[in-house]
Amino acid sequence: MKILVIGGGGREHAIVRKLLESPRVSKLYCAPGNGGISKDAECVPISAMDIPGVVKFAKENEIDLVFVAPDDPLAAGMVDELQKAGIRAFGPTAKAAEIESSKVFSKNLMKKYHIPTAAYEVFDDPSKVLNYIASRNTYPTVIKADGLALGKGVIIAENYEEAQDAVKTIMEDKKFGASGNRVVVEEFLTGPEVSVLAFTDGKCVKPMVSSKDHKRALDGNRGLNTGGMGTISPNPFYTPEIAEECMKTIFLPTIHAMNQEGRPFKGCLYFGLMLTKDGPKVIEYNSRFGDPETQVVLPRLKTDLVDILEAVIDERLEQQDIEWSNEACACVVMASGGYPEAYKKGIEIHGLNADGQVDGVTVFHAGTVWKDGKFYTNGGRVLGVTALGKTLDEALARAYSGVDKIHFDGAHYRHDIGK
Ligand code: AMP
Ligand code: GLY
Repeated sequence: MKILVIGGGGREHAIVRKLLESPRVSKLYCAPGNGGISKDAECVPISAMDIPGVVKFAKENEIDLVFVAPDDPLAAGMVDELQKAGIRAFGPTAKAAEIESSKVFSKNLMKKYHIPTAAYEVFDDPSKVLNYIASRNTYPTVIKADGLALGKGVIIAENYEEAQDAVKTIMEDKKFGASGNRVVVEEFLTGPEVSVLAFTDGKCVKPMVSSKDHKRALDGNRGLNTGGMGTISPNPFYTPEIAEECMKTIFLPTIHAMNQEGRPFKGCLYFGLMLTKDGPKVIEYNSRFGDPETQVVLPRLKTDLVDILEAVIDERLEQQDIEWSNEACACVVMASGGYPEAYKKGIEIHGLNADGQVDGVTVFHAGTVWKDGKFYTNGGRVLGVTALGKTLDEALARAYSGVDKIHFDGAHYRHDIGK
C-alpha cells in the first residue's frame, strides 16, 4: 500500500516509524514532514492545511490511505474532502472533530449525556464572564478558549486579577484568534491526569495503553502550559478497575452520544481524564492521537497498525485483535530556548547521527530541518527522545541517557518526567 501521513511533528514521526514496520506498506509519504521524518518517508512540500493540495497529491500518486494526524485539518474537513474524492482516509469528519475543536460543543455534549466532567458556564461577553467570576469568588478558576489554541488556550486563574488578565488575553487581545470568541469557565478539579487514546469505528471502542503527559514547561509542574514536555506509558494511576469504570461511564457513553448527535466518530479519540475523588472525569477530548502521547503508546503496539486503520475505516474494529507489549515507554521532549513563548529557529543540533538518531533510544523529530548534511531546530518542541524498558525507571534512564548526548544552544527539557 501507498500511505500518506499528514502533519510534521513528533507524533507524525512516531506514526511513520510504526507504519514502516508493516509488511503491507510499499511506499510512505509525509506532508509536510520534517528533517527527521525525511529519513524514514518521502516528505512532500504540501502544508497540513492545504486540503485541495493533499487531495490532488493523493489522486495523482494513487495513495491507498491517508492518515490525517493533526487537529486543524481534521476540524477543517480534510477527511470529508478525501472521502468525497474516493480516497480512503483515517480520521474523523469535521462534524465529529468538533468534539475537540469546540469546547462549548464538547461540554454541552457531556452535560446532555451525563458524562462526568467539571461544572461550567459558557460566555461570549467579557464583562459577563468577569461578573460571573467575581460573584462566584472561588479560586483557582479555569478559563478556556472555545476553539483550538495549540494546547495553550487554558488559563488557571488563582485570583480575580489573574482572571481579568486571562479574559483580556483570550477575548480582547484575541491571542488565539477566533478561538477566543467564546470562553468556558470551569470548576477547578484536582487529581492525577491520564491520557487514554482509543481506536473507534463508531460502533465499538478499543482503548490503547494509557499514558501521562507533562503539560507545564518547567520541573515540578511549574511554568506555562505547553503542547506537552514529555510522556510515560503506562500511567501508573490508571488501574484496571478505573479503566473498567471509564469504559462504562465515559468511553461508551461518548461514542453513543456522538452517534445520537448524527456525528459518528471514526478514528482515534483521545480522552484527557482527571481521576478525582468523585471518580474519573473528562478534562478534554481530542479528535486525534496526542502529541507526545503517541510517542510512548505506538512503540508498545505489536499489531500491524495498517490492519487497525483499515478495520476502523471499514467499521469492523470489533473483530480486530490489538496486542500491546508489557514494556514501559518514556519520552523526554527537548524544546527550544523560550518555548512555549517566543524562540529562535535554525540552531544546529549536535549529537544526532546522519539518520537523526542516537544509539539505544529512538529520537522522534518534532521541529527539525535537514540542510547541507546537518539537522537544525525548526520549532518549539524539537525532539522527543524516547525509550522502552522492562520498567518505567529503566525506560526513563535510557531516555535521559539519550538526552545527555544531544545538544543545541538554548535547549531545555524537564528533568522530572515520570517522577
Ligand atoms: P486542556 O487543554 O483542556 O486539556 O487543559 C490543559 C490542562 O489544564 C489540563 O491538562 C489540566 O492540567 C488543566 N485543566 C484543564 N481543565 C481543568 C480543570 N477543570 N481543573 C483543573 N485543571 C484543569
Ligand atoms: N498532549 C496533549 C495533546 O496532544 O493535546
